[in-house]
Amino acid sequence: MSILKIEGGKSLSGEIRVQGAKNSVLPILAATILQNGESVIRNCPDLTDVHAAIDILRHLGCEARFEKGTVWVNSRGMTSCDIPDELMRRMRSSVIFLGAILARCGRATISMPGGCELGPRPIDMHLEAMGRLGAEIRENSGDLICRAPALRGARIDFRIPSVGATENSMLAAAGAAGTTFITNAAREPEIRDLGEYLRALGVRVTGAGTSTVTVEGGEMRQYAEHTVIPDRIAAATYISAVTAAGGDICLSGVNAGDIAGVTGAFLKMGTELTFRGGELRCRRVKRPTPPGTVTTGPYPGFPTDAQPVLMAASTVAKGATAFVETIFQNRYRHVPELLRMGADISVDGRVAIVQGVERLHGAQVRATDLRGGAALIVAALAAEGTSEIGEIRHIDRGYENIASCLEQIGGRAERIERKDEQDG
Ligand code: EPU
Repeated sequence: MSILKIEGGKSLSGEIRVQGAKNSVLPILAATILQNGESVIRNCPDLTDVHAAIDILRHLGCEARFEKGTVWVNSRGMTSCDIPDELMRRMRSSVIFLGAILARCGRATISMPGGCELGPRPIDMHLEAMGRLGAEIRENSGDLICRAPALRGARIDFRIPSVGATENSMLAAAGAAGTTFITNAAREPEIRDLGEYLRALGVRVTGAGTSTVTVEGGEMRQYAEHTVIPDRIAAATYISAVTAAGGDICLSGVNAGDIAGVTGAFLKMGTELTFRGGELRCRRVKRPTPPGTVTTGPYPGFPTDAQPVLMAASTVAKGATAFVETIFQNRYRHVPELLRMGADISVDGRVAIVQGVERLHGAQVRATDLRGGAALIVAALAAEGTSEIGEIRHIDRGYENIASCLEQIGGRAERIERKDEQDG
């Protein structure tokens, strides 16, 4: 098992190109099976979740390879419509393949994704949406057996905006006869990006990235190319790092509009953010001031995925910050680990109160989930002394070559293979 050793307390400097967005690549890779042909997807980050999606594609009978940030998929040979439990469990978001498989094959068998580290993650809205489009779904010993010999366009009105359910509906609707109207859709930039890829396939999609998405099913092209948008959560992680540890770094390949929901908090903390072209210069000029109350919400609200990294930065702010987590029940699992580093945080249900301390200190900690792991990196960069972060497999799901990326911005980070760490 690997650990990440970070020597903190040094200010950061340097430049880094922000990786492509994990949460764009995954639904787009699922979408590559809609057509009977080839796709070239560029700016794909080298992540375990991306490899898990590639393994699903191969299991389905597609050819798929990852080479220098590009994934090439040939879905002509697709033979299977089932995803076995072992592949479903490797990546929670494998459920996004459901809509695409139904659109392509008219039937699908997947296993029920279980609860996860962020708390229960139901898929009722995904299943209801597939039902609206004409699928019949029954559960058999944990398997979901779905049949939809003839998907047809429908009106789908979500009770709350769900990223995955919106994506699944768009994928199934692309293979349905007629037009689908999705209302109260999630508006995340990654959904806009999926819409762009679908348009490259020839699907008529409007409104992706707004709360009303329209998809007209029909013939698709046999070849599509697409370049994935930059990862706004990775960008927020680097901004958090410089806010916590100090320094002056430059992020290239950032989409200013897509990170508008997080920049306000960092500006309140006193971090200077200057956009020029596709570059964002981030400079800490003084010890951060607290960003006030941070309430997570669906886009364009403050992203739940950036809550842990902002919390890590606020542990060294001059004053108190309140966090209110409204998306996932169990998204404070990094808190006990931050406490080991000297942070002062109390949690009551969905609310966490952080009292800023002057300094954190290095400690041995464990990544409990992907973004919680990123929070530990931010804290470790700011902390005096050395930290060792265990269970970094969680971090590898979403951050490409994390140790070398941190080095590019002046962080002292080293990945070490340890034989004795148990993979819990
Ligand atoms: N929900 C339901 N029923 C459903 C689907 C969702 O009740 O059928 C609830 C969820 O429990 C949650 C809320 O709706 O309370 C929103 O969840 P959503 O469906 O939007 O989340 P998701 O699609 O499972 C994606 C990202 C997450 C990110 C969330 C919220 C991907 C692959 N995952 O998950 O990313 O936190 O949207 O923005 O796009 C991460 O990257 O670390 C990560 C967890």
